[in-house]
Amino acid sequence: MLVTEPKIVNTKEMLLKAYQEGYAVPAFNIHNLETVQVVVETAAELRSPVILAATPGTFSYSGRDYVQAMVEVAAKRHDIPIALHLDHHETIEAIKESLDLGAKSVMIDASHHNFEENIAIVKEVVELAHQYGATVEAELGRLGGQEDDLVVDEKDSFFTDPASAKEFVERTGIDSLAVAIGTAHGLYKSEPKLDFDRLKEIREQLEGFPLVLHGASGIPAEDVRRSISLGCTKVNIATELKIPFSEALRNFLVENPEANDPRKYMAPAKAAMKAVVAEKIRMCMSDGKA
Ligand code: 13P
Repeated sequence: MLVTEPKIVNTKEMLLKAYQEGYAVPAFNIHNLETVQVVVETAAELRSPVILAATPGTFSYSGRDYVQAMVEVAAKRHDIPIALHLDHHETIEAIKESLDLGAKSVMIDASHHNFEENIAIVKEVVELAHQYGATVEAELGRLGGQEDDLVVDEKDSFFTDPASAKEFVERTGIDSLAVAIGTAHGLYKSEPKLDFDRLKEIREQLEGFPLVLHGASGIPAEDVRRSISLGCTKVNIATELKIPFSEALRNFLVENPEANDPRKYMAPAKAAMKAVVAEKIRMCMSDGKA
C-alpha cells in the first residue's frame, strides 16, 4: 500500500494508546536496509505499530541521512504508525542532527551521570526536541550489559528508585522513562530476575506515564507481559534479532560456499529474523493495534 504522506511519527500517541489498551509497542533495533525491511514488513502484515531504534553505532555505520530516508520510504509504503527512535544517544549534537533530518523520537541516555546532572542534560534535550515535535525518553537507574558501543559493567548498574523516578519525570518533562528493574542489554549469563515490586511502585508513582523496558532479549514472554501489565508500553529488542539473522546467513554461506549474490544470501537471514519479529510483536500484544 502506498501512503502519500510519510508517516514517521513521534511516540506520544502510540505509547499512550498502548498504555490505555494494555499492550506495548515493540522497539526493534535496525542496522541496514534489510533489517528495516524485515521489521516494517512484518509489523505491517500483523497491523502493529512499530518503533525502529537506531544507536549511534548504527548511524555511524549506515549514515543518519540514509537511515532517515530508509524509514521514510518504509512509512510511505506502509499504513501503520512507524517511529524512528534514536536509541541511547549521549550528545545533544548527534540528536540535533537527526532532529534536523526529521526524526521524531529520541532517547537521551545520561544515566551514567549523577541525578542532578542527568536531569540537567535531559531537560536540555527535552527543550530542544519538543520544539521539533519529537518525544523524549530518558533512563533513570542503569542497565548492565552491552548495547553496541555502550558497555556497562554489572558493578556499575543499579536499579531505578521509584520516588526519584517521579521527581525525574516532573523536573525533566520527558515523555517516557526507561527503568532499570533487572534486565540487561545483550545475552544473560543466568536467568534474569525482574524486580516486579519495584516496577509496581514506579507505576504507582507515575500512574498513566509510559515506562520503557530495555534489554528484553532473553526475558521470558510471561515476564515481559507482566512488565507490560505494570506500565511498560515500549519493549526494546535487539540481540534476539541479530542472532538468528547472523546464524541463518552463516549457515547459508557455509552450505553454499560459492554464493556471492547478496540478494540471495540475505534472503534466509531476513526470513529467520522475520519469524522472531512476528513472535515479539505477538508477545507485546501489539498485533491488530495499528
Ligand atoms: P537487547 O539487545 O538485550 O534486546 O536490548 C535492546 C535494548 O534495550 C536497546 O536499547
